[in-house]
Amino acid sequence: MKSMSFVSVFVLLLCSFLVADLSAQKLPHSCARPDQVAIKHLHLDLKVDFEEKKLTGSAKLDLDRKSDANELRLDTNGLSITKVTSGDNELKWELGEHMSTLGQALTITLPESGDEVTIEYSSSPGAEAVQWLSPEQTTDKKYPFLFTQSQAILARTWVPCQDTPAVRMTYSAKITVPSELMAVMSASNPQEKNDTGVYEFEMKQPIPSYLLALAVGDLKFQSLGPRSGVYSEPSVLKRAVYELHDTEKMIAAAEELYGPYRWDRYDVIFLPSSFPFGGMENPRLTFATPTILAGDRSLVALIAHELAHSWSGNLVTNATWDDFWLNEGFTVYFEQRIMESIYGRKYSEMLARLSLDGLKEEIAELKARDQWLKLDLTGRNPDDGMTAIAYDKGYFFLRKCEETVGRENWDAFLKGYFDKFAFKSMTTESFIDYVEANLEGADKLNYKAWIYAGGLPADCPVVTTEELAKVGTACEAFVDGKSAADIAKEFGTADWTTHHWNHFLRELPKLSTDQMKALDAQFEFTKSGNSEITHDWLMHVIASEYQPGMEKLEAFLTGQGRRKFLQPLYTKLVETERGKEIAKRIYAKARSGYHAVSSQTIDGIVGVPQ
Ligand code: BES
Ligand code: ZN
Repeated sequence: MKSMSFVSVFVLLLCSFLVADLSAQKLPHSCARPDQVAIKHLHLDLKVDFEEKKLTGSAKLDLDRKSDANELRLDTNGLSITKVTSGDNELKWELGEHMSTLGQALTITLPESGDEVTIEYSSSPGAEAVQWLSPEQTTDKKYPFLFTQSQAILARTWVPCQDTPAVRMTYSAKITVPSELMAVMSASNPQEKNDTGVYEFEMKQPIPSYLLALAVGDLKFQSLGPRSGVYSEPSVLKRAVYELHDTEKMIAAAEELYGPYRWDRYDVIFLPSSFPFGGMENPRLTFATPTILAGDRSLVALIAHELAHSWSGNLVTNATWDDFWLNEGFTVYFEQRIMESIYGRKYSEMLARLSLDGLKEEIAELKARDQWLKLDLTGRNPDDGMTAIAYDKGYFFLRKCEETVGRENWDAFLKGYFDKFAFKSMTTESFIDYVEANLEGADKLNYKAWIYAGGLPADCPVVTTEELAKVGTACEAFVDGKSAADIAKEFGTADWTTHHWNHFLRELPKLSTDQMKALDAQFEFTKSGNSEITHDWLMHVIASEYQPGMEKLEAFLTGQGRRKFLQPLYTKLVETERGKEIAKRIYAKARSGYHAVSSQTIDGIVGVPQ
């Protein structure tokens, strides 16, 4: 790294000014004014009521009063507030007008002095973050289950808070659940059920609100190693432990790259299959979909990804959702480096190729402005930013940085970056300033074309994967009429991984019924138990109206709620009139089992069932 010049000292000062200054402006997606009063610590005391589908209790907030302002402004959405106090005093409070997606501002009039307030409240049964599952909707079908998903702006549907990634707080919680269930959070966690149903939690490191998380269910824990373990419903645990075999290795590989893991433990909980995401990086406890339990450890890049967020995202956090690529692009880059270090470059280049193909496909569909790394989500749902741009264009930009300045320099730079900005928020602009001041060779980076323009810049890194090149040849051979049996023999498909199959299925054009039959007879795609392969196959099932696959399609759409799988399948279905009828029929059955994050997206594709 360069020694500090006057210029870099100046830029550093400027960039800390930028980070600090952000809170003085109107924050996007939040009505909080942390420049006046900021939450330092949150204590939650909540009772989980499965009958009423409500979390009821209080949130006590410790405040940092930065100005003489006597108003505390919080984000809420659908909360019923009953009382606000500070010590023995009842405080005046008011809920603002309801704004779609953003909810309602809660304005509390603070006393002259005093730096704590307690809000008594309950969440509503429709709280979007929370999914309440009946026993039938869980894997084991014996007990109810609850989990939350706070990112991006859903924390406010179950906790009154400053719901912006620009504010960090520590938290503690007392959660009361039916005594046959156990509660876990993004905090220090129990490993066994107790008799009382009361669980206490502590998160000592300051985190943004979108990392608040709670899950309640019939949970069992098994250790994976000194720092890691896995939670799930009893029947899932064995498979979960098998799949996560390399978790300790991943933590070690990550630390070797970018410095110490700062959150003490790293555990993973496998949720019921309605979890709308692949994974969510809740600190100390990644929330994961059971659809990665392939039985062959082939989908564990997702664990590398969520673990990597312990640095990119949870430690250095995007200051606004417009800077989302600072979370996700860095995390995909870091995920790739972990995968490379454990499974080798050949393997990680296959993943990179799949990422590049997906990126190109999405670029073709997105509006030009939505193709910039720096987004503009003002007035929109921050969810709109969850595209391949933040993830994969972000990844390729950072890979370009690596290739431009050399891996050694780049790694030293990144390690310094995570250290310097640990537990802080970062804007795209302050990141660029920091790069210019601290990365030797930064002047050779064509960063404007990546960050402030659409498309894929011409200097995009080249992915080299002989493995997937061979798969491409196999596709062509099949399209040219070679039999599936011959493809299997000549290309040694018995040794193909999930990623080979994904590439194979994605490269194939629309197929005839005969071609579908031939592939299915040889490779048994309809019977596949691998969710990624199933998804890619079902895209063909829909396109070719392949009847033997229709039952599987219905089972897949009703059996899991991961949006990444649902969205393309429903979108493909509604392309034809016949498909639309099928989509409507299946969705009417499936919708009540989806988390709000997924059903909102699918409502927009299929329409709300009557
Ligand atoms: N933090 C994201 C999930 C997220 C993003 C939730 C934005 C809500 C708003 C998580 O780390 C993620 O990226 N999950 C991916 C998996 C990954 C391997 C790309 C997913 O769920 O598909
Ligand atoms: Zn992520």
